[in-house]
Amino acid sequence: MSESDALRERFEAVMMPNYGTPPLALARGEGCRVWDADGNQYLDLIAGIAVSALGHAHPAIVDAVTDQVGKLAHTSNLFVHEPGVRLAERLLGLLNTDGGGARVFFCNSGAEANEAAIKLVRRTLKTEIVGRSVRGTDRPFVAAIGSFHGRTMGSLSITGKEPIRTPFGPFGVNVRWIPYGDEAVLARAVDEDVAAVFLEPTLGEGGVVPPPEGYLRAVRQACDEAGALLVLDEIQSGIGRTGAWFAHQEAGITPDVLTLAKGLGGGLPIGACVGFGAAGTALGKGDHGSTFGGNPIACAAALAVLDTIEQQDILANVKAVGAALAAGIEATGHPLLKGVRGSGLWLAAVLTADRSAAVCAAAQARGFLVNPVQPDAVRLAPPLILSQAEAGEFTAALPEILTEAQA
Ligand SMILES: Cc1ncc(COP(=O)(O)O)c(C=O)c1O
Repeated sequence: MSESDALRERFEAVMMPNYGTPPLALARGEGCRVWDADGNQYLDLIAGIAVSALGHAHPAIVDAVTDQVGKLAHTSNLFVHEPGVRLAERLLGLLNTDGGGARVFFCNSGAEANEAAIKLVRRTLKTEIVGRSVRGTDRPFVAAIGSFHGRTMGSLSITGKEPIRTPFGPFGVNVRWIPYGDEAVLARAVDEDVAAVFLEPTLGEGGVVPPPEGYLRAVRQACDEAGALLVLDEIQSGIGRTGAWFAHQEAGITPDVLTLAKGLGGGLPIGACVGFGAAGTALGKGDHGSTFGGNPIACAAALAVLDTIEQQDILANVKAVGAALAAGIEATGHPLLKGVRGSGLWLAAVLTADRSAAVCAAAQARGFLVNPVQPDAVRLAPPLILSQAEAGEFTAALPEILTEAQA
């Protein structure tokens, strides 16, 4: 039995079956390559689900984390530390908040960032109507069918995937569900009773589905007219994934609340909830917290990610290599391929049949890791440092992969 299979067997014996048994055991990585437990090499085109922004074992992250762990690994929220303050300053700078009262809360994951956002919405609204009633607490959220916001009870309650949500109800959040990208339905759903619209700028787990042009501006306008807050979940889309620092910047809007995680730590666990304007200062002392959130090591890693992206103009790489990758996939003209969705290094190869699992298996057999995000969509979310040559390796192998998957 191979090392990888032996590890998978041990996994199955001791781990809860919530993930099934993953097809491969990985042992190490470097740049955009990873090696499995048997020493087989793969080009990593999924980056730990859009996380490893600088690839694997990037020297900037290795150095930052090594330095920080040797100095001070943990403080808890009882004490202030330099990497945390500097990271918040950096994020607000990238968000161009111009000192407009925006504030950051750090946590450890995407779901936690969204939990913070849900509480923040309720606190912001309650703060505004203080002295009148507690009506703010059960005002509904508007969320999209097909959306994904996390697995905790709050984030799951606004996740628009019934099979993963409904077995765990009831929830404490009222939700109005809307089809993603439909302006007319949005306009009807967002009235003055609504607390917040909670939305991804592009559906990630839903299959890398961008909204129609102008949709995010229409959402912003609907929220403004109704007095509802706009929460954008940029956990997957943020930190350069689309070729902009944040996807909402390309749409020309600013949310009231923004959530981040995944690529921010480049593989170290960190999430962030950013509140703009009134939402920036709505949480009072004792309202929320996390023991590990914004831990100095994770913050040092995140600073290394942001600095490296900036210093090496990695956003330009994301745009150029992403465009070439999308064009290369389209150019195969294979009968199993319907088209390509997405932008930057965040793409879905859309299939003419529900064969994504077979495509991923055929790709893995040829040394490429991709992800069957939907039955008919294969997701690519590689490290943002993917080179043109590496993208070319995949597009050259793709016709054969698709042909095998079609059989
Ligand atoms: C848009 C979005 N929000 C939230 C989450 C949840 O993040 P985490 O798995 O870190 O809790 C994810 C994870 O895939 C996501 O894609």
